[in-house]
Amino acid sequence: MKKIILLLVCIVLVACSSIIKIPDLADVEYCKTKYSDANIIDLDMGYKLYVKKCGGCHSMYSPKYYKNDEWEKLLPEMIERSKLKSVEELQVRKYIYTMNRSFPNGIPY
Ligand code: HEC
Repeated sequence: MKKIILLLVCIVLVACSSIIKIPDLADVEYCKTKYSDANIIDLDMGYKLYVKKCGGCHSMYSPKYYKNDEWEKLLPEMIERSKLKSVEELQVRKYIYTMNRSFPNGIPY
């Protein structure tokens, strides 16, 4: 029984982490391809803001779900709605840009 519970916990964790991933150092390296000043503190803040602010009104959208240019179009309005400061806006943008990288053209349907 314990094993089954453990297995279920693992499945849930894996399922969730694939939608909203906690940034690591490899992510920082990727982020530097666009934002040369990227660091783990910014990405970590971006992650926390994304979960806290963006997840506050609706369920979480995976950064991978939209193409980079789609994010460009919808982010200004969502950032406005989240009332982010300009520093925070940049952190969220860095997070989305980085976590979108395996599907920069959106998740294939
Ligand atoms: C004050 C509430 C609120 C906050 C905060 C908010 N959103 Fe939204 N969001 C909405 C509403 C309402 C919609 C429904 C579609 C619409 O009205 O455009 C939406 C829609 C979306 C969509 C779908 C858009 C589409 O056309 O498919 C995405 C993606 C999204 N939000 C991302 C974010 C992100 C990222 C953040 C954080 C920066 C955020 N949202 C913060 C209210 C909010």
